[in-house]
Amino acid sequence: MTFLTIKDAMTQSSGEVKLHGWVYRSRGSSKFRFVVLRDSTNIIQCVIDKSVVGDDKFSIADKLQLESSIEIYGQINKEERAPSGYEIQVSDFNVVNLCKDFPINKGDETTEFLADNRHLALRSRKNVAIMKIRSTVFGAIHGFFRSEGFFEHQSPIFQSSQAEGGSTLFEVNYFGKPLYLAQTWQLHAEAMIFALEKIYCIAPSFRAERSKTSRHLTEYWHAEMEVAWSKFEDIQDYGERLIKYVFSKVLETNLEELKIIERDVSKLLPIVEKPFLKMTYDEALKILKEKCNIDVEWGKDLRTIEEEALTKLYDVPIICSNYPKIVKAFYMKEVPGNSDVVQGCDFLAPEGYGEVIGGSQREEDIEKIEKRLLEQGETLDAYKFYLDTRRYGSVPHGGFGLGVERIITWICGLDNIKDSIAFPRTMLRYTP
Ligand code: 4AD
Ligand code: MG
Repeated sequence: MTFLTIKDAMTQSSGEVKLHGWVYRSRGSSKFRFVVLRDSTNIIQCVIDKSVVGDDKFSIADKLQLESSIEIYGQINKEERAPSGYEIQVSDFNVVNLCKDFPINKGDETTEFLADNRHLALRSRKNVAIMKIRSTVFGAIHGFFRSEGFFEHQSPIFQSSQAEGGSTLFEVNYFGKPLYLAQTWQLHAEAMIFALEKIYCIAPSFRAERSKTSRHLTEYWHAEMEVAWSKFEDIQDYGERLIKYVFSKVLETNLEELKIIERDVSKLLPIVEKPFLKMTYDEALKILKEKCNIDVEWGKDLRTIEEEALTKLYDVPIICSNYPKIVKAFYMKEVPGNSDVVQGCDFLAPEGYGEVIGGSQREEDIEKIEKRLLEQGETLDAYKFYLDTRRYGSVPHGGFGLGVERIITWICGLDNIKDSIAFPRTMLRYTP
């Protein structure tokens, strides 16, 4: 007889089963022990009857504490009163590892304590549900790009220049030379489109974020794409369809998990069903002033509070475009006829979740790129390979980056991005 998962045992619904898992709860009397068993698929109540297993075994069952690992043999049947609607009458069991004093046991642990013990806290039902949704999101991103004819390409993590501003660079000592951890795959991806034309990746990106916000990690997973021959509208369109695809996959796969984490699914449906809202930066400033009574000086980037105020007005993401050139990266293409603004777009998620995608049409004019790099205090030497992309067969192109933890945080309705990744890295949190 092979081991079944709890889910499969419940599908079988009657007869003999053999399961293994961890003790999720345990209580009892002098004659019975009720052990709730947990595995990756569900929980199930198991009844250990002293008159069935005998005195010796029962005294072991009495010692079973939270998170002991065990194997259980018995008869499964429907039981309305049990936590998941099924129960197992145990005929025998083996203890694989007897656990003593699992540190998380009361449910009143502080956030800090749970973060220090993240390696153990990950076993909670809520965290298991979030990690399953995370897995769906990663699968969906691959599924979307592959179904659209993209090739998967990897850029190096050790890089010799910045792309998203010097202030968030992590410097590493590379055999005595300073190198940087990748902030983005983009510059190398722009070289690769000449070979593969439509490419994507999911890889870690690194940002030395000093801000202690609920949206920033220092190491996050970045889903990026780059396409040759694109127009700015194509980039926005890919972003909208990617987000819709990811949401529909989660709704298709994870209703049970969304219920466990008590996410209001009605908030997710408009993302799949309704078109996203498009507005320019200028229009955003106007709406902020008229509807939110917030004055933003032209030329300033939108801050978290402004993005929050703006996105709370709608139930779908805003694709905000045509930002002032001075607040955006050196590689973004100028809007034809207005060199003060660029063809860059941020996707701002509703419910105050903020920027989930940043993308742009790329500047093709090598002189403009060189000028902007020099204005930012960069040396052109470090960008030789990048500038070559504009010298040899340059074509219109663009791309975007999606913060995978940002979209998971939003889908799951989490208060803090740290809950969307198994082992978060922030300025103050780098263990376990
Ligand atoms: O807007 P960003 O900085 O854009 C880029 O890196 C471009 N090179 C992408 C591209 O065009 N290929 O970052 C893209 C996205 C943001 O919209 C956000 O979702 C996420 O990455 N992001 C972060 N997520 C978590 N923690 C951080 N510190 C993040 N910084 C950016
Ligand atoms: Mg951005």
